[in-house]
Amino acid sequence: MALYEAEVNVVAHAWKGIMSVDITPEGIDVVVEDEGGPGIEDIDKAMEEGFSTATDEVRQMGFGAGMGLPNIKRNCDEMYLSSTPGTGTRLEIKVFFQRLAGLLE
Ligand SMILES: Nc1ncnc2c1ncn2[C@@H]1O[C@H](COP(=O)(O)OP(=O)(O)OP(=O)(O)O)[C@@H](O)[C@H]1O
Ligand SMILES: [Mg+2]
Repeated sequence: MALYEAEVNVVAHAWKGIMSVDITPEGIDVVVEDEGGPGIEDIDKAMEEGFSTATDEVRQMGFGAGMGLPNIKRNCDEMYLSSTPGTGTRLEIKVFFQRLAGLLE
């Protein structure tokens, strides 16, 4: 779920990106990075629920509620978002198995 939102953001707000997934004994570490994307001017604002700069075209496809990033944050253990406007955006998401196991108990 968190991954899907991150992918949609790259497709909707940037052009192309790479995603790398690293599975360790502790958990899953995902980095989604786009190159040549517009970047994010104000990271704190982008993290707010309901904030979106999605175009009408993107909205017509059912995206653009401004809930993607807040939902990612809710569904992972650690999240790091960094961006250089005009260059691109990097999002790292960590999920720890230990916590997932705790949810099942
Ligand atoms: N990879 C990216 N490149 C450039 N801007 C981004 C990127 N990811 C997010 N943003 C900016 O952050 C805003 C908020 O992102 P978020 O995923 O929360 O909402 P959204 O994508 O607009 O809508 P939703 O995810 O609910 O369909 C976006 O509208 C956009 O301005
Ligand atoms: Mg989104």
